[in-house]
Amino acid sequence: MPARSFRVMNVVGARPNMMKMAPLFKEMKSADFFDPILVHTGQHYDYDLSQVFFEQLQMPQPDHNLEVGSGTHHSQTAAVMERFGKLVQDCRPDMIVVVGDVNSTMACALVGAKELIPVAHVEAGLRSGDRTMPEEINRVVTDAVSDLLFTTEEGAADNLRREGIPQERIHFVGNLMIDSLVHGLDAARRSSLKARMGLKAKGYVVLTLHRPANVDDPTRLLKTLKVVAEIAQEYPVVFPIHPRTKARIANLGFDGTREWSEGIEGPGILTIPPASYLDFIGLVDEAALVITDSGGLQEETTYLGVDCLTFRENTERPVTLLHGTNRLVGTDPGALLREAKIVLHTPHSNSHGSQVPPPLWDGKTASRIVSVLQEYLLKNVVGPSLRRAG
Ligand code: UD1
Repeated sequence: MPARSFRVMNVVGARPNMMKMAPLFKEMKSADFFDPILVHTGQHYDYDLSQVFFEQLQMPQPDHNLEVGSGTHHSQTAAVMERFGKLVQDCRPDMIVVVGDVNSTMACALVGAKELIPVAHVEAGLRSGDRTMPEEINRVVTDAVSDLLFTTEEGAADNLRREGIPQERIHFVGNLMIDSLVHGLDAARRSSLKARMGLKAKGYVVLTLHRPANVDDPTRLLKTLKVVAEIAQEYPVVFPIHPRTKARIANLGFDGTREWSEGIEGPGILTIPPASYLDFIGLVDEAALVITDSGGLQEETTYLGVDCLTFRENTERPVTLLHGTNRLVGTDPGALLREAKIVLHTPHSNSHGSQVPPPLWDGKTASRIVSVLQEYLLKNVVGPSLRRAG
């Protein structure tokens, strides 16, 4: 590696970080300019939530795994800061790159700021306006301490400017997660999961639910599941189930779900373990409808032109409402049922390929980010070899 390679520390922590980091890390690896290091905080540690994504997204194993595991928000954040802080003091990177809005994102950005190492935040400027969401706190704090803010949609820059972030730090580069989607789509379409589950194209619904606001209150969760069971009388509902949701449902005594295994077909709510990236994209691609409280899935359905009902009061990704197939239904289960019936019973115009994705959701975001990083590092940071010599 050339003496003037810049050491860039790239952080992943939880599942939704993986599809953002994979294309960026690959792009950095292919340029002599960078000496990229991959750090996994270990916020997610189950095979299904972590390792399988490294395999399918062809990401190398992390250079460092901090193995912080689960905990309260503050203990998890503190553990990441403590362990990542030590690593940063040992390695002295020239730059730290964080993605998304999970606890690991904020914790590592704070470490960078306190160690006076420039921080780049990918997916900056998204705001739900709802500070009861842990992710919203993570977004605001991360953006406040980052030196480079890479945005996925045009409105994000307005949010950042409103918070006093200077324009020259903001770079509209598009959606890095869509790079992974573009790259993986053919393989996802070859996934055998749909066929094994006996699902027909546009003949089933995909459900994901994991936000504390939706799953932690047993009464609310039960009401929601009853509504989903009603939808599932007509269309099978495939429910890849996050560990926290699984634990909550187990405590409810609700018997309207069936754990899918080979041979089980037909209507009903079919739960499966958290799906791998390619199986999941393959499922979503041909769903008649997606019901979700996830952030990333609002974007993936937008790109794929699949109808999506977001079971939340707000979204930090308004471009998916303006430009895509996403509809915000609020958190009333009755409203969810009404909207789902409308979508499932009305022939809709958002068929595959008929829509234009939001600006710069084109699979080329990683290369745009790398160009900005390169320019920034050359202008503002003395490379490691020079620093040591000085
Ligand atoms: C985290 C992110 C959320 C993201 C989600 C994607 C924060 C604040 N939240 O939420 O933005 O949408 O990831 O999945 O960072 N658990 C396991 N195995 C694991 C990881 C977690 O069983 O590998 C269980 C543990 O019981 C844990 C719970 O899931 O307490 C929640 O995990 P945590 O990482 O705290 O948050 P998520 O709900 O996964």
